[in-house]
Amino acid sequence: MTESRQDAQRHAPIAEAMRAYSTDGALAFHTPGHKQGLGAHALLQSLVTDEGLREEVSLMEELDDLHEPTMCIAEAERLAAELYGADRAYLMVNGTTGAIHAMLFGTLAPGDTVLVPRNAHRSVIGGIVLAGAKPVWMAPEVDEHFGIPMGVAPETVRQAVREHPEAKAALLVYPTYYGVATDLAAIARILHDVGMLLLVDEAHGPHLRFFDESSGQPKQALDCDADAVAQSTHKLLGAMTQGSLLLTQGARIDDERIRAAASLLQTTSPNQLLMASIDIARMQMATEGRARWAEALRLADKLRAAIDEMPGLHCLGAADCQTPGASGLDRTKVTVDVTGLGLTGPEAEAWLRHNDTCKIQCELSDARNVLFLVTYADTEETIGKLITALRALVKERQGRNTAAAGVQALDDSSAAAGLPPLPPVPETAADPRTAFFASKERVTFEKAAGRTAAEQVMFYPPGIPILAPGDRVTEDAIRYIRAMQAVGRKIVGPEDASLQTLLVLRESGTEEKGRQDLKGKLIIIEAGDGSGKATQTKALYDHLVRDGRTVHRVEFPDYASDSSALVRMYLSGKFGGHADDVNAYAASTFFAVDRYASYRTKWKAWYEAGDIILADRYTTSNMVHQAVKIEDKDEREEFLAWLWDLEFGKLGLPIPDAVVFLDMDPAVANQLIAARAKETGAKEDIHEKDKAYLAKCHAAYLDLAKKYSWKTVKCSEGGQPREIEEIHAEVYAAVAGMLETQA
Ligand SMILES: Cc1ncc(COP(=O)(O)O)c(C=O)c1O
Repeated sequence: MTESRQDAQRHAPIAEAMRAYSTDGALAFHTPGHKQGLGAHALLQSLVTDEGLREEVSLMEELDDLHEPTMCIAEAERLAAELYGADRAYLMVNGTTGAIHAMLFGTLAPGDTVLVPRNAHRSVIGGIVLAGAKPVWMAPEVDEHFGIPMGVAPETVRQAVREHPEAKAALLVYPTYYGVATDLAAIARILHDVGMLLLVDEAHGPHLRFFDESSGQPKQALDCDADAVAQSTHKLLGAMTQGSLLLTQGARIDDERIRAAASLLQTTSPNQLLMASIDIARMQMATEGRARWAEALRLADKLRAAIDEMPGLHCLGAADCQTPGASGLDRTKVTVDVTGLGLTGPEAEAWLRHNDTCKIQCELSDARNVLFLVTYADTEETIGKLITALRALVKERQGRNTAAAGVQALDDSSAAAGLPPLPPVPETAADPRTAFFASKERVTFEKAAGRTAAEQVMFYPPGIPILAPGDRVTEDAIRYIRAMQAVGRKIVGPEDASLQTLLVLRESGTEEKGRQDLKGKLIIIEAGDGSGKATQTKALYDHLVRDGRTVHRVEFPDYASDSSALVRMYLSGKFGGHADDVNAYAASTFFAVDRYASYRTKWKAWYEAGDIILADRYTTSNMVHQAVKIEDKDEREEFLAWLWDLEFGKLGLPIPDAVVFLDMDPAVANQLIAARAKETGAKEDIHEKDKAYLAKCHAAYLDLAKKYSWKTVKCSEGGQPREIEEIHAEVYAAVAGMLETQA
């Protein structure tokens, strides 16, 4: 850099232009509406400061235009490009998500193939949807000890290039969240030799430029010959959250297209403070970056050494990162395995955060580890406090049985416990853009094999999707997912977190029974006994009819139907005087058969005509009444999955479109049951007689309402029932909203 450019790096041109505008004294008859703070609320004023608000203007001639920069923004971008050794830099005001979108949208065209790691950040999938590209997945390596994904090995890239010579580009994550750096220079050579682009998600590496070569830190992606790089200036440097940079170099990139893509995807009113903050972060790094990051690295190494001496704790170190998917480690990312203390990552995170003596917040925790970020902002004091806190945690755990339940579960779920290995990445049946826009439906998970997934399913660790939108679902994937669930691993991704159903693309001519070809809507009002279910169902029925809709009210059990004989006998106590006398599976089968008979004989035709079918109770209440008989949580989950499969899989009954749950305090419900009995002489049924059972049912209802995303309406307050009309208004609003969104 010439001396004059070095001088230029000491300037922050955007902030300087803002100050010049605000001190020029022009009376504002322009946006923003607060008019340089004059109308700002005191709270906003204290958040942003008077000076900040005075300068929070945009679109003024003197402040340049992000979309066609020629003045201060152009200069800020030039300075950023110079600092990073790029040919071009683009200020990004929608974070690295926006930078990745622009990078993919600006380099790929619809139908282009792009090679991507299976565990790419969701913004990468978003960019692929926008560009209409086809992903070819590359599997990252996994560190078995720490249970974390490493980088993608050069050999994996070479193989993908061989199998997909049509690919235009590969997008790599470098370094990973945990600081692991794959051999990017080798990957660049593999790609460039066949004319493919190397695009890099360097969200976690905007600081790598500022380490000396002797530090042993990984080189920044541009120095490994990347063509385009998206960086989160806000994650590790001094920009405000959302401020990122997109950097490009070389002749393989069409910069006009990148600018056009960034322009199409970004606001026409970028926040000036945000842009200034990216520029100021650049200036700060240009002037102090090397010294500050050398100090950060010294502190990080000191922290690592201290942790590695603590019994039960162990840091992911540079020596762990000399494997096929890793050729280096950013040591300022300190990943600590806490399982030696008998803790899972989240347990250690919670202790550190909420302990009165320390209050430390880590960046993230996963099943085994907690991750601490050391940045240029840290000092001897902050690192000393972290060391003290970790020592306190170790001391607190010493002397305890270190085989804690959560950790035991993790170890039980290892390959040694007989789990199937991670299944192969499934075939891609639809590209993400097609999957995004396609019509979708829910199918029983066990029956999803061969269908095209519309949602992601994964487990942490290792955070690599087993299914991704567009994948052809395989039996292997289903088996693996069920095996992981069986050892208590929590699923991340699908809307139905228990994965009784999976969202898949609708396919014409599919044989899956259930809802898909039916135009009607099934609405269920669900509640415990005595909660006003019948009253609310009637009120809703009347309201929908008044709205001019064709509605059929159905009741379960349907006493007029012969099929109900078993249900009737069960409820009247013919099989025994207590609900528990008939086991959950048998009782549920009676109810399911009852519903099936009614469906076939009566209301299938209504469905096909596109009518509304309104029922108080359905499968769901049956689930509750029967599920509470099963004390063991895992067995209960197994029963629920069995019942779901029986009704919606085997019998092909329609899955409800909406379930509204009336949440009535059981004590209030009991009073109402008693009052009703007194008034009408009605006998209590087998469930109503048992008050403890009803209280248990209410708790189970709340659980299921959460699990199946029922719309919940509170029906009592302070030990009193709410007004019937008030409850009705909320029930009606929930249903009308659903009918509108699904119309
Ligand atoms: C690897 C990776 N890429 C991209 C992003 C998106 O960055 P941003 O939050 O700035 O949009 C993140 C965010 O966590 C990330 O971890």
